[in-house]
Amino acid sequence: MEKKLFGTARINEKKHLEIGGCDTVELAAQYGSPLVVYDVALIKEMAQGFKKTFEQLEMSHNVVYASKAFTCKAIYQLLDKEGLHFDVVSDGELHTALAAGIDSSKIEFHGNNKTDFELEMAVSNNIGTIIVDNFHEIELLTSLLKKKQKTQRILLRVTPGVDAHTHDYILTGQEDSKFGFDVKSGQAAKALQLVMNAPEFDMAGIHCHIGSQIFDTAGFDMAAERMMAILLDWREQFDYTAAVLNLGGGFGVRYTSEDTPLKPQEYVARIASKVKEICKTAVYPLPEVWIEPGRSIVGEAGTSLYTVGSRKEVADVRTFVAVDGGMGDNIRPALYQAKYTAYLASDMTAPDTEVVTIVGKYCESGDKLIEDIALPDTAAGDILAMTTTGAYGYSMASNYNRTQKPAVVFVEDGKSQLVVKRETLDDLLRFDLDY
Ligand SMILES: Cc1ncc(COP(=O)(O)O)c(C=O)c1O
Repeated sequence: MEKKLFGTARINEKKHLEIGGCDTVELAAQYGSPLVVYDVALIKEMAQGFKKTFEQLEMSHNVVYASKAFTCKAIYQLLDKEGLHFDVVSDGELHTALAAGIDSSKIEFHGNNKTDFELEMAVSNNIGTIIVDNFHEIELLTSLLKKKQKTQRILLRVTPGVDAHTHDYILTGQEDSKFGFDVKSGQAAKALQLVMNAPEFDMAGIHCHIGSQIFDTAGFDMAAERMMAILLDWREQFDYTAAVLNLGGGFGVRYTSEDTPLKPQEYVARIASKVKEICKTAVYPLPEVWIEPGRSIVGEAGTSLYTVGSRKEVADVRTFVAVDGGMGDNIRPALYQAKYTAYLASDMTAPDTEVVTIVGKYCESGDKLIEDIALPDTAAGDILAMTTTGAYGYSMASNYNRTQKPAVVFVEDGKSQLVVKRETLDDLLRFDLDY
């Protein structure tokens, strides 16, 4: 199988997979497995790919990391140093960002059903922006802000009806969506009038998110066109001019050779030129353009290391190779048939000899990590490296079967740093009470 390695990953003198100058077989020995390894240099490269392109184009912007992709204190701190802002979608993500020392003005809060507690927490902490999703939220926020005598900067999330190339389960930009105000039916315009007339709101602009794993610029072109059309209409109808246009995330990554994402630079260049072109033609003041990449910042930078255990050969059907993790640390294959690539980290030059299905250790037949992958001979104790697991892997991890969530390490310049500890057996009992 052709090996596509990302960032600083390479094959070292021992023929092992090395990331960030660290031998992955040694990392697994030092920290145990399953282990999630992040290539810090690649995270920085992706972040700067988005940010620098806006800077070079001299375009007011904000690159907002969608922290649901991978949340922990260290990733907030790392990306803060890169000049990114942060999107949180829960009290837990907000708490983590604040505990990491993130300035609350750099945080935006998303969600289709923010609780009273979450809104109170956001407002009390002077959060930068709340992305308002529905009429219920406008009501809750109005009374909260009145009570606190505060003004809050907001964006309205709208569904412009753009159907980007993506997987159905993770499509959120269509009109048939639980997120945001529908444009066609006039909901969005009604929301605008409500917030424009309420002194509690600093109505800064609009937001959309058209989907995930988008591999070309056509979807973003359409989104920019539709969103600008809304803004032009609102200028005409309501004399409203937006300061911010937030086009969301969804920039694709490569899981397998079938995936062909563009570089961050290409997405940004296209978005910037489209928005500039429309604004120029319509003589509309160029808004600040915000994007919210999640997967593309951390996806390819993450690699999961597993130790091979049992093997089952079913004659003329398939061979199962089981590893010491699975759906508990990566639910994506079971949840939406996500595809991945894996390598034998302990001998990256060994030729492929068989086609196997890599399964986990969980009590579900659907606990398959990769179906029908060509691999060299493997034996119990070997380390398998599954690539592009950095997004929506650890952040969706569970304790199903009372397993412990894995450890996470950052690697860079030959050094590794533990950033999330492996859970212990006693951690599993933290909330249990005796009967
Ligand atoms: C509003 C919003 N912004 C950004 C993202 C991040 O998307 P991605 O990780 O595909 O870049 C999501 C993902 O669900 C989202 O819902």
